[in-house]
Amino acid sequence: MDRACTDCLVLAEDQDELRAFKAEVSAGLSCSPKRLHSRFFYDKAGSDLFRSITRLPEYYLTDCELEILRKSGRKIMSLVGDGQFNLVELGSGDGSKVIHLIDPVLAENRRLTYLPIDLSASALEALTSFLCRHSPNLDVRCIVAEYSPGLQWIKSHLDGPTMVLFLGSNLGNFDQAAAQAFLTEVREGLAPGDLLVIGLDLRKDIDTMVRAYNDSGGVTAEFNLNLLRRINRQLGGNFDIGNFRYYSTYNPQSGGIDSFLISLRCQSVFIRELCTTFDFEPGEPIYTEHSHKYSETEIRRLASQSGFVLEASFYDSRKYFVDSIWRVPGVTDHLPPLTDR
Ligand code: AVI
Repeated sequence: MDRACTDCLVLAEDQDELRAFKAEVSAGLSCSPKRLHSRFFYDKAGSDLFRSITRLPEYYLTDCELEILRKSGRKIMSLVGDGQFNLVELGSGDGSKVIHLIDPVLAENRRLTYLPIDLSASALEALTSFLCRHSPNLDVRCIVAEYSPGLQWIKSHLDGPTMVLFLGSNLGNFDQAAAQAFLTEVREGLAPGDLLVIGLDLRKDIDTMVRAYNDSGGVTAEFNLNLLRRINRQLGGNFDIGNFRYYSTYNPQSGGIDSFLISLRCQSVFIRELCTTFDFEPGEPIYTEHSHKYSETEIRRLASQSGFVLEASFYDSRKYFVDSIWRVPGVTDHLPPLTDR
């Protein structure tokens, strides 16, 4: 039997990530109101906590998307057309979702190259070792990179039809302007006819959404507090974690869950690597995350504003989550008038 062909391209080093973290902490704790971007949740401890979140009964997002991919994986992959193609995944995941897309393709003896892009070399290693066991014939090329340079590399090095996966409602953690800019960048890296499969959490009853971010075991609280622990570990901070509490709420105006770490008392925190002391008042929040929940209208608008055509939508049985399939239009495709986009 053939062995999986696995190679790894490194476009980002741990040092780049540490530098970016330092800059974010310095800027985010100096501004008012204070903020720390959720992108920095995912060090080793944070990634382990996130994996635990995805198994919580309250956190319905992962199960819903798995249900969609199990049920509709073959149909989704039939949209790529015949022949060999590239399957690019932004954010590597642990393989449990992507196998429902890869398996039906391999079962038809079609060839594809799977290219996961992620900042974490260790997450990519774990993923490829899982895929080597699960699908020994799969051609895997890992790219250790931020999404933008990873997409740039793909644009200049890959030929043939391409499908990009952006699953898990990861777009929901981008603010509106960043989401729009990112989607446009993805589209610019693709050719007419290429596809984007984007997993988005839909608006639903408020209690269900709020419960997903307030689990009874306190795992989501630990996930947020780990950001302060990470500052202590990597930047020599002296946060007393017991002096902060996690709080999250649904904001019906912006349409998402907003998460915070709130200072429980008047306190000062020194961060050695920044040579700076940050003062907190009692009740003062650090804004940590926005988890956006989408309406169908918003999804259609996002697709057309970033230059895609919405081709198909796949839902779970409760219609909590959607995997939306967007195509890059060809020159002859009719685009809606600008006023509707
Ligand atoms: C990764 N991301 C889509 C998750 C979300 O739902 O916003 C991160 C998360 N935050 C709290 N729980 C899970």
